[in-house]
Amino acid sequence: MLTVHRESRRLSRRLSFSASGRELAPAVTLRRTFREFWPDTRGLRPLFAAGVVFAVLAALCEVAAIRLFGHITDEVLTTRNLEAFWVPAFSWLGLATVAGAASFAGAYITALGAERFLLRLRDRVFGHLQTLAPDYAEKRRLGDLMARLTDDVEAIEELVGSGLVKAITTAASVVFFAGAAFLVRWDLALVTLALIPAFLVVSKLFAARFRVAAARERHSNGAMNSVLEEGLANQPLVQAYNRQRDEARRLHREGRTWLRANLSQAWLSGLYGPVVQVIETVCLIIVLGVGAWEIAAGRLTIGGLLAFAAYLALLYPAVQGLGELALTVSEAAAGSDRIIEVLRARPAVTDAPAAVAAGQGRGRVEFDRVGFAYPGRASRPALHEVSFVAEPGEVLVITGPSGAGKSTLAKLLLRFYDPDEGRVLLDGADVRGLTRESLRENVTVLHQETMLFSGSVRDNIAYGRPAASMEEIIRAAETAGVHDFVQDLPRGYDTPVGQRGRLLSGGQRQRVAIARAVLRDAPVLVLDEPMTGLDEETAAQVMAPLGRLMTGRTTILITHDLRQVPSGARVIGLRPVPRHERIRLKRAGVPRLARDRTGAGHGASRTGRQEAAHAVRSSGPVPVPLPREPPEPRGPREPREPREPREPLVPEPGGVDAGP
Ligand SMILES: Nc1ncnc2c1ncn2[C@@H]1O[C@H](COP(=O)(O)OP(=O)(O)OP(=O)(O)O)[C@@H](O)[C@H]1O
Ligand SMILES: [Mg+2]
Repeated sequence: MLTVHRESRRLSRRLSFSASGRELAPAVTLRRTFREFWPDTRGLRPLFAAGVVFAVLAALCEVAAIRLFGHITDEVLTTRNLEAFWVPAFSWLGLATVAGAASFAGAYITALGAERFLLRLRDRVFGHLQTLAPDYAEKRRLGDLMARLTDDVEAIEELVGSGLVKAITTAASVVFFAGAAFLVRWDLALVTLALIPAFLVVSKLFAARFRVAAARERHSNGAMNSVLEEGLANQPLVQAYNRQRDEARRLHREGRTWLRANLSQAWLSGLYGPVVQVIETVCLIIVLGVGAWEIAAGRLTIGGLLAFAAYLALLYPAVQGLGELALTVSEAAAGSDRIIEVLRARPAVTDAPAAVAAGQGRGRVEFDRVGFAYPGRASRPALHEVSFVAEPGEVLVITGPSGAGKSTLAKLLLRFYDPDEGRVLLDGADVRGLTRESLRENVTVLHQETMLFSGSVRDNIAYGRPAASMEEIIRAAETAGVHDFVQDLPRGYDTPVGQRGRLLSGGQRQRVAIARAVLRDAPVLVLDEPMTGLDEETAAQVMAPLGRLMTGRTTILITHDLRQVPSGARVIGLRPVPRHERIRLKRAGVPRLARDRTGAGHGASRTGRQEAAHAVRSSGPVPVPLPREPPEPRGPREPREPREPREPLVPEPGGVDAGP
């Protein structure tokens, strides 16, 4: 009874895993699931096989033990012959010990294989997610991706790993227990086997309702979690706008829905046990009635009847388990569909077969008539005919209104995407011909939003170079103006920065990010709105370390605050692709794939000055470069020594022509 109840709870849990997946995924065949994930069990198959062997051994011991029980009833209890008791009693004890050991070993070894399989599968899916452009994760709900990495991965394991072991051992148990029952009394066995469909019908009826209740539970659980997550993450906003009570009410509402869903699950699983028990009782009464008649006719002994009843007590749960397995299989396949969908997503870019490593470059960056539209947004290109050059060591300021495509430039330079037209070049080499890893070694981006992990200050600074020594970390921290405030933190460099660095001030977070960039020491630096969200005073504090960071590196400074432009920097303006141009491009079928670039005469051989002039000519409606002075080409960067600022970061709004 207890086992049946536990089983029913497990059934509802399993269904709930897959029910959440089913909403989003079309059904996939079992074969597809196995074809995709069976290779991942390589090396673990002996564990699963051993799990099956031990579980089957345990079932066989149970069959033998019940036989002994029947024997004791007939030879000892009925005849009151105590002499005959000891041998079967000790054999029974021996069998029980072996069965216990085998079932323990089987369960543990199966768990060993299952957990390793789970680990491997999760690593594989997460590893794959990391190869996709960051936008893949950004476009999806975080909670949904996390559910795939936890619940759905588990659902696959329950199908391909432990599920398979369970299917084999349950089927074997059914054969053993039914066979043993037939051996005791074949006609009686036939009568009771005829009742098996009753179990299947009941479990099918319940499973359908379980599935609905479980799907509701998963849904409201997700809704409740998102209210919780948002409420906690946006706590400052909630409190500042006096919305605490509304948030609490929102959570309470979702909580009530969840409560109702849970209660209907509890109602179903509470009812399931008694209903099954009634059917079992009916079976038992029929067996006893027919058995009594058979005993009277001399065809059966009392021990035989008791053994028969015991086999049935084991057989029925096993049959139920089989019915439940069929359901689990079809449901878990839906979870696997969600994983396959992630695994099938192809990275926007991959390394070319003949890609070469970039090596330590000088840091000359060139955009040559670049056109680009985000995937799925072909009719709204983010960039069109953008050309500019940043010479080694130069500070190039890119300015322009929101949505003009400034951050997109950084994504193309890092090769999160490839341009649809034109080329992006690093030191004269098309970035498509370089390995992504070596390209990214050469470019440090300070993103528009500061991204910190929840480790210590030290961990965050060393993120780009985990092998850095403490001296190097401190030197970078000094350059970035982190060292001073770290002294005041309770545990210095070991102080945790909190979730996303929230225990630091905005300016401190930004300076930690600068220290991270300093330590990385790449020849090209892209600063995307480095002062976003900082007040003037903090911005002033960040400016000096930024100036030190920019020294000697090719710096592309993206900003729409022209007061942040260092004197002597070249400024180009970027305008959004205008509507009429978008329509023209759409009609012309642009963006199209990269076209022939050989004869166009945009080679990398021109000087920076010419490049700037070209940019003016080709700008059309888009880039508006405003060269104030020719860029001074500088020699190759010397590695890893923080230098004095080459040019002070003096706000000079008057000196900068800000485009149209
Ligand atoms: N991942 C994306 N998928 C689709 N479109 C995007 C994506 N990221 C940006 N865009 C669109 O591309 C255009 C350029 O965006 P981008 O972020 O480069 O602008 P920006 O110049 O950096 O603006 P801001 O100054 O506000 O940061 C915008 O119209 C934006 O809506
Ligand atoms: Mg931006």
